[in-house]
Amino acid sequence: MQSNQIPQHIAIIMDGNGRWAKQKHLPRLAGHHAGAKAVRRTIDAARKAGISFLTLYAFSTENWSRPQEEIDGLMKLLAQSLDEYAKEATEKNIRLWVSGEREPLPPAILERIDKTVAATAGNTGLTLNLALNYGAQQEITHAVNDLLASGKTAITPADIRAHLYHPDLPDPELIIRTSGEERLSNFLLWQAAYSEFYFTPVLWPDFDETELQKALASFQARQRRFGGI
Ligand code: IPE
Ligand code: IPE
Ligand code: MG
Repeated sequence: MQSNQIPQHIAIIMDGNGRWAKQKHLPRLAGHHAGAKAVRRTIDAARKAGISFLTLYAFSTENWSRPQEEIDGLMKLLAQSLDEYAKEATEKNIRLWVSGEREPLPPAILERIDKTVAATAGNTGLTLNLALNYGAQQEITHAVNDLLASGKTAITPADIRAHLYHPDLPDPELIIRTSGEERLSNFLLWQAAYSEFYFTPVLWPDFDETELQKALASFQARQRRFGGI
């Protein structure tokens, strides 16, 4: 694969954990645990492929509408994964970023995030951007409110970009969604303006290096025109 055809930033909507569990007559949380394993595989596969930025949609602002039991299970799994991954991130030179609103994430999660983000800030390998309690409409609204607070009365697209959660995050060239759903679900609405989309019926817990390679091959076959001819 030629390096100039490797996207700098891939963003993934990791969907289908619940259906994966249902197929196996397991509780939904078992699907989320299997999904956490797919996250680790995918991070390693992305590093191997030479990706610089990987954004993973872990929890949306709309996911608070799920049953409390599932939310609690997801938060517990997230805390556990952050603990396990903190050490590995240092070993693998991974830098952790988070995109999303802090409220109402539990303190146990916020403390772990703050610790790992600070500990990995100087790492120069893959940047893993966790979209957590993330909503794109909220991100854009947050940017506009920042601009209003600064006294601006007229704004440009560049102003909005400068106030996104991570202004230095390049737009994703490729957005992948698993599980057969073909929608954005409030993900990266601003940054997706010229992204290529790759939808696969594979459920997130089954996603692996081979599936990532398929998405990359599809991306390489695309002609990106950006409004030109
Ligand atoms: C994605 O899997 C994980 C999260 C949204 C947290 P789902 O839990 O949405 O799985 P399905 O869509 O019910 O299969
Ligand atoms: C999108 O998946 C959010 C994440 C993957 C974290 P959902 O399963 O919540 O999306 P909808 O509700 O099917 O659109
Ligand atoms: Mg889903």
